[in-house]
Amino acid sequence: MSQKSLLLTAKQGSFAVGTTPIPKPGPGQVLIKIQSAALNPVEWKIQAYGLFIEKFPSVLGSDIAGTIEAVGEGVTGFAKGDRVLNQGTRGDNNEFSGFQQYALANADVTAKIVSSLSFDQASTVPVGLATAAVGLFNQGKSNSAGLYPPWEENGSGRYAGQPIVIFGGASSVGQYVIQVAKLAGFSPIITTASLTNADYLRGLGATHVLDRKLSAEQLKAQVSSITSASIQIVYDAISEADTQVAAYDLVSSGGTLVLVLANSIPESKRTSDRKIVNVFGNVNAPDNRATGASLYKQLTRLLENGSIKPNRVEVLPNGLQGIVDGLKKLQAGVSNIKLVAHPQETA
Ligand SMILES: NC(=O)c1ccc[n+]([C@@H]2O[C@H](COP(=O)([O-])OP(=O)(O)OC[C@H]3O[C@@H](n4cnc5c(N)ncnc54)[C@H](OP(=O)(O)O)[C@@H]3O)[C@@H](O)[C@H]2O)c1
Repeated sequence: MSQKSLLLTAKQGSFAVGTTPIPKPGPGQVLIKIQSAALNPVEWKIQAYGLFIEKFPSVLGSDIAGTIEAVGEGVTGFAKGDRVLNQGTRGDNNEFSGFQQYALANADVTAKIVSSLSFDQASTVPVGLATAAVGLFNQGKSNSAGLYPPWEENGSGRYAGQPIVIFGGASSVGQYVIQVAKLAGFSPIITTASLTNADYLRGLGATHVLDRKLSAEQLKAQVSSITSASIQIVYDAISEADTQVAAYDLVSSGGTLVLVLANSIPESKRTSDRKIVNVFGNVNAPDNRATGASLYKQLTRLLENGSIKPNRVEVLPNGLQGIVDGLKKLQAGVSNIKLVAHPQETA
């Protein structure tokens, strides 16, 4: 049996819709029929800069929602037809990727979704939430601030009264950082964004939204006027050269800066009393899998009770082919929106 997949044909090459075999789930795996696949900035970066992938043709895409098509040996709790979300992986094995009609998934990091959540909405969750959750709550790992997860027993509200600053609250990742920070009890939750997104971000749990155009100095002054408490956690969901420096400047002694892109803070600015961690936001990665599985055990509930809200969605036309223009749009820049494709609508 074959399916349609969007193939990146070569390093920095073009994308083309092609045919690939539908895989069979092995032990501990499920096969998902993908209804919605969301786009992420890394995908245009892989194509434009030739990053990460060495084997071609390659299928990209990590944000997946759809229905269970088949269940592998030893998997319990899932049956054909269940509505689910899952985070795909990229790499040499295309079978776990999202820009196609069927994908394998590890059952322990797959979550059922309630009927009130559309496939489009559900597909916006996996990458952004994983990046937020791993960056803050992957205990004992060097890619994380190592805090206690709020979805675990006695985790909710544990950091009450402690401030957090989040750069880029309107980004997909930033929105999930705001929400998990709220679950963990952080207060105030201070974020930067275009002020047109301020009301929306307050609705997710931000207590203060500061204009992303403020200079680092102005930002520091505003943060000091909001809280005099020591700032132990700053999450830079943008991690461009200027935001990294401004973000690091806000971290108090003993605190941690979480970055989503490679650290570009000049050596001359770094001090040994402030940690910088680089998150790899995929729950399938060996270092993240235990935290991911514990999160995914609770995820159906967190989505059902509204603790975690999906991103706003814009649906792309033309099935998998529509992803090609979608990635150009993402590269040009979007505001408070996640682009989503429908692989089953591929011509
Ligand atoms: N390390 C990892 O595993 C990992 C995982 C996921 C993503 N990432 C990276 O994280 C970054 C964010 O990804 P995403 O999918 O969340 O992006 P996104 O949703 O496409 O980000 C768009 C948003 O970024 C905001 N923004 C841009 N520049 C800003 C600035 N200087 N200050 C504040 N806000 C700014 C804009 O906010 P306004 O609309 O309010 O202006 C816009 O809404 C990307 O570089 C991505 O590659 C890394």
